[in-house]
Amino acid sequence: MQTEQARPRPPTVLVVDDSPTLLLALLDHLSHHGFLVVLAHDAREGMMRAALAEPDLILLDIVMPGLDGFEACRRLKADAQTRDVPVIFMTGLSDAKQIVSGFAVGGVDYITKPFQVEEVLARINTHIALRRANSELKQAYQSLARAQEDLVHQEKLAALGSLVAGIAHELNTPIGNSLMVASTFEAQTGDIREHFSKGENMRRSELVGYLDNACTTTEILMRNLQRAADLVTNFKQVAVDQTSTQRRTFLLAEVVAGNVLTLLPSIRRTPFEVVQKVPDELMMDSYPGPLGQVIANLVNNAIMHAFDGRSEGEVELVAEYEKPDWVALHVRDNGNGISHANQERIFDPFFTTKMGVGGSGLGLHIVHSIVSEILGGRITVRSEEGHGTCFTLSLPLEAPRR
Ligand SMILES: Nc1ncnc2c1ncn2[C@@H]1O[C@H](COP(=O)(O)OP(=O)(O)OP(=O)(O)O)[C@@H](O)[C@H]1O
Ligand SMILES: [Mg+2]
Repeated sequence: MQTEQARPRPPTVLVVDDSPTLLLALLDHLSHHGFLVVLAHDAREGMMRAALAEPDLILLDIVMPGLDGFEACRRLKADAQTRDVPVIFMTGLSDAKQIVSGFAVGGVDYITKPFQVEEVLARINTHIALRRANSELKQAYQSLARAQEDLVHQEKLAALGSLVAGIAHELNTPIGNSLMVASTFEAQTGDIREHFSKGENMRRSELVGYLDNACTTTEILMRNLQRAADLVTNFKQVAVDQTSTQRRTFLLAEVVAGNVLTLLPSIRRTPFEVVQKVPDELMMDSYPGPLGQVIANLVNNAIMHAFDGRSEGEVELVAEYEKPDWVALHVRDNGNGISHANQERIFDPFFTTKMGVGGSGLGLHIVHSIVSEILGGRITVRSEEGHGTCFTLSLPLEAPRR
């Protein structure tokens, strides 16, 4: 079955004038040039037709009985339905004062009567083209904004994915250790039980050995299970923080440590080191989830970008009190640095030097908006090529209320 192609609607022009001669002349010329023409004899009729016919442009006479053209234009601009339709005034006199009033009420252009048809056509075409271009721009902007939202969402999902991988990896060690000692102890207990069930005598030294072993086993079990429990608490907090923008009071050192921990599995696959120097007692009343996202992005960036071609490198997270009630958190690496030209652009969305190899260029853009819009602080960068990079977050200890 053949579907009918949707043909673009010819541009519609609404002409409002109290002179029947002029209306007919314009109807004739404009129809001849492919426009759909709608006519109105006064301002009230014009406004009604504007709402019904949804014209692409309005030619509006100024001096008419009843409402004048200026008032009609003011009302058209106040109505959401007709606000964006360009209005060209038709004026009898080329009086400058009148023209200025026309622009003041929202007109985009004017033509003076009597006019040349070519001039009218040229102006109409220009403004219709401008309006089309504007609406295309608006649509392009909206679809870009949607694409950006999707990317941010994907970034969040990826962060959650690596969090889960981190949990699995970190828990593996203490649970594996516990399983190993528990199974050895189970085997030993089985042996002893068999001894007893057969009524065999047991040497004192054997019993002492078994009891020593029991003590060591429980001690190892306790230590590893405690480690697992600590990890779970830590991860639970980071997971809650990551998925919400909840405000709470927290120790900065704990939030830094928790987030670095989730990155450890990927950091351990590299030869690079992460060092934390955060005062233990430093308390904040802020948004730990978004702050954690910022820390994770900056540390990941250092690991991903700073040490290209290097076999060793260090990332340092250092916090210090700044002016009263503010903290400076530096994320510093001793890697390759960022060129001055690139420093200007790193916070721009989609700027990346790893295009096609895993970089989307959104990381620092998101970091920048979290720091300024949620945490109420600032982020600055200092970097020398060949001498590493230092990102500094200046944050209020108490984030602004939203
Ligand atoms: N510590 C650093 N050392 C060197 N270059 C860096 C560092 N941090 C960021 N950059 C540069 O800034 C660019 C932009 O970083 P951004 O985090 O916005 O994007 P990305 O890391 O490339 O991609 P993603 O969206 O995955 O984060 C990087 O491509 C890199 O060139
Ligand atoms: Mg990044």
